[in-house]
Amino acid sequence: MTNVAVIGGQWGDEGKGKIVDWLSSRSDIVVRFQGGHNAGHTLVIDGVTYKLSLLPSGVVRGGKISVIGNGVVIDPWALFAEIDAIAAQGVTITPDCLRIAENAVLILPIHGIVDRAREANNGTVTIGTTGRGIGPAYEDKIARRAIRACDLADPDEVAAKVEALLLHHNALLRGLNQPEVSAQDIVPKLLAIAPRLLPYLEPVWLRLNAAHHQGQRILFEGAQGAMLDVDHGTYPFVTSSNTGAGQAATGSGLGPGAINYVLGIVKAYTTRVGMGPFPTELQDEVGERIGKIGHEFGTVTGRKRRCGWFDAVMVRQAVKTSGISGIALTKLDVLDGFTELKICTGYRLDGQVLDYLPARSKLQARVEPIYETLPGWSDTTAGARSWSQLPAAAIKYVRRLEELIDCPVALLSTSPKREDVILVHDPFAP
Ligand code: GDP
Ligand code: IMO
Ligand code: MG
Repeated sequence: MTNVAVIGGQWGDEGKGKIVDWLSSRSDIVVRFQGGHNAGHTLVIDGVTYKLSLLPSGVVRGGKISVIGNGVVIDPWALFAEIDAIAAQGVTITPDCLRIAENAVLILPIHGIVDRAREANNGTVTIGTTGRGIGPAYEDKIARRAIRACDLADPDEVAAKVEALLLHHNALLRGLNQPEVSAQDIVPKLLAIAPRLLPYLEPVWLRLNAAHHQGQRILFEGAQGAMLDVDHGTYPFVTSSNTGAGQAATGSGLGPGAINYVLGIVKAYTTRVGMGPFPTELQDEVGERIGKIGHEFGTVTGRKRRCGWFDAVMVRQAVKTSGISGIALTKLDVLDGFTELKICTGYRLDGQVLDYLPARSKLQARVEPIYETLPGWSDTTAGARSWSQLPAAAIKYVRRLEELIDCPVALLSTSPKREDVILVHDPFAP
């Protein structure tokens, strides 16, 4: 049986949620394996829009098991706010359909405080984070002082661990001239939410291994994207987790051999939220036009996304570093009506031509895109569900992208709606 990992191929917001929802009809279990509620995945089903941050994008379909793996950092208050919000939209989440890794790390209120204090401080690099405490929570995990979901079963242990964790964070807050946080601000809140969280916990790795053994289909849902990966992205302007396919294994407790197909989600142009280098960024009316037509505003923070032409160098790099087998190309419809379209095929730096993004931040900021220009199309691709409905110039654009990124297109998305997809190659049937 085939299992599929869906990951972002650019700087996030490529349309992973829509594609995971679409693919979930072919799978039994949907698993989140990294990130946290910094993610914002949008689904549009029968005219209703669902915005998910921590819940796997299979939850709306019903009849599927959703899993939050050990690689995710969980803010329990955000989780239940999301569960309550989606209940108001008619989707009921119970421990029967959602299972959470008992060994997942918790995001505490202190993490958001530290995240935002660091971002506001002049002496530290401003990343433009979502302010959700993602970085500080992962730092605590690696530093071995985090509170894990399973710890909530023992109130004494929670209190002792919070004290130890605050020793570290309060030293930092003092240094940043910020008020300290006391255990009293955290422990009662944790103990109050524990009875609601504990019924969802289990060793999910056992369930996933058993499901895999029985031939069930597992769909892994990545958050963020390759260029936000803490190793391979535009460091330090990245998120604090690995976003590639390897993390689907580590972040869920299945071996890497269980992931048979890696579907990279890629927009037909490029966007980025937050700070950091962006070689093909368009700070002109063309960028404004793409942003307006594509509704490029952040799902989580509402921030305006920066927009630019398709960067084939970056996506080719993502294909290699993330192990992508095929692409789901989204938002092709946003490019309808442009007279011409540009694709970045290389970078120029100090008289040299590069076919990859160098690691040094200062160089990443200085590379100049080399463009190839293709004719646009005046007909519409919006809502197309077959190749034959696409204008010839749009097909040419897609085929040229495939060549340049050295990877085939498996799916094409032509609107925010669930059913507006062109299936070229089924990832579950490689
Ligand atoms: P994710 O974080 O990768 O799940 O992506 P987001 O949900 O943050 O952002 C993608 C946005 O584009 C959402 O508003 C989707 O509804 C929308 N979207 C997804 N696919 C398409 C598409 O093919 N065309 C258009 N026009 N919008 C799309
Ligand atoms: P989805 O899953 C786009 C960006 C932030 C910031 C950087 C670090 O919806 O694609 P963090 O709060 O993670 O420490 O912020 O990463 N970022 C995203 N950008 N989509 C996302 O998720 C993102 N999650 C984080 O804007 O630049
Ligand atoms: Mg998003």
